[in-house]
Amino acid sequence: MTELDAGREALAGAASVLVFTGAGMSADSGVPTFRGSGGLWRNFRPEELATRAAFDRDPLLVWEWYNWRRRVVLECEPHAGHRAIARAQAEGRVRLVTQNVDGLHQRALAEIPERSQAVPTLALHGSLFRLACIRCDYSRTDTESIDTTSPASLPECPECRHLLRPGVVWFGEQLDQEVLSAAFSWATNATACLVVGTSAVVEPAASIPRLVLQNGGTVVEVNAEPTPLSGLATVAIQGSAAELVPAILGTGA
Ligand code: OAD
Repeated sequence: MTELDAGREALAGAASVLVFTGAGMSADSGVPTFRGSGGLWRNFRPEELATRAAFDRDPLLVWEWYNWRRRVVLECEPHAGHRAIARAQAEGRVRLVTQNVDGLHQRALAEIPERSQAVPTLALHGSLFRLACIRCDYSRTDTESIDTTSPASLPECPECRHLLRPGVVWFGEQLDQEVLSAAFSWATNATACLVVGTSAVVEPAASIPRLVLQNGGTVVEVNAEPTPLSGLATVAIQGSAAELVPAILGTGA
């Protein structure tokens, strides 16, 4: 039996399947990953761009970087792997937890007319398209370009006039506790987990597949390269998400 057949079989026989994705999921759509060759953290320093201290020091620089990422992602399209997961969500065959902030899973799900059956996607690290006030509870979602002409042109909260920031989780910040505990509860109840395109090193997200294993579930990993999870996974398949995810979950077309 090939690794692919073993992965397919492990998921087909499972009562409750969780899909857990990272930046490698969107690499085949053209979205840069964080680590590895060409990864964002090879060319940019996280502490200068993805921390609250960086935003307080230089909000213009941070917004320029996030505005660039918003534009990159808006030019990308979900691929066959995103669509296969969305189809499986819509059919109630899987639940989805993602570390991705690019919105490609949500766009793939929005293409499916019968998506109303789907449970929400848990986005652990927020969204590039959410803007949140640094002071009050105001937030909104939009895909408009951010005006980064000068510090004065940056988006402001319509309620308290403080700056709006990208609605993503930065280094040193806590994840949304409701989203995290829902994700842990899904992982605890899952009998199988398909892990796609994550280096599996950033906590607490990286605990999700481990939690499935601890509870006796099977883990099928799809990644372009071996990761710290590969040795623990029930089946580890090397290759690209766009090719392997539809082969494992079915295209549903
Ligand atoms: P990483 O950039 O750390 O890892 C991407 C993974 O995808 C690597 O293991 C690659 O081998 C794999 N990969 C690359 N191309 C692939 C392809 N076409 N098909 C399948 N796999 C592929 O991304 P994450 O694990 O998502 O956090 O990173 C976790 C978190 O670290 C991110 O959410 C972000 C980052 O700092 C925050 O911003 C809070």
